[in-house]
Amino acid sequence: MDISDKIRIIEDFPKKGISFKDITTLIRDGEAFKYVINTMADNLKDKNIKYIAAPEARGFILGSAVAYAMGVGFIPIRKPGKLPGETISYEYDLEYGKDELVMHTDAIDIGERVAIVDDLLATGGTVNALAKIVEKAGGIVAAMEFLIELEELNGRELNSEYEINSLVKYN
Ligand code: PRP
Repeated sequence: MDISDKIRIIEDFPKKGISFKDITTLIRDGEAFKYVINTMADNLKDKNIKYIAAPEARGFILGSAVAYAMGVGFIPIRKPGKLPGETISYEYDLEYGKDELVMHTDAIDIGERVAIVDDLLATGGTVNALAKIVEKAGGIVAAMEFLIELEELNGRELNSEYEINSLVKYN
């Protein structure tokens, strides 16, 4: 199935010069959504994955569905101030300023294998922070699975130590 034509491109959002890849048009199409989830789950199936971890908000849409399809647990990675238990966090650089991601400290036990799922690999900063949090907790990042990859932003370079797969590439 060709899913690339289900992704809507909106120019100059959220600011001038950015060509935004809108996945709402893909996930409202039941067949396309199912195809994406099943393809991601299939790509991850022989990797002895114990959990899927994904960042809010768009990562939750795909990540929880992939976890369900695989029959494994889901770990939400959030912005600060949202998780009620004891947390570990990782701060990372944005183009302007900094951001932080947070996970429950007891979400992962030492040596457990985790796959990261997200809608988009752009600069790779988000997924890199997420991987560092998983590793801080003692987990192993077994794979990273994306719906979309913006190749010109070199997210793979920052994450060269990890196995990365994406379904739709733009350059
Ligand atoms: C988007 C996207 C990825 C991240 C990729 O999230 O969902 O998580 O950016 O960018 P990067 O590779 O340059 O780090 P965003 O922060 O827009 O949050 P959202 O999912 O809540 O819209």
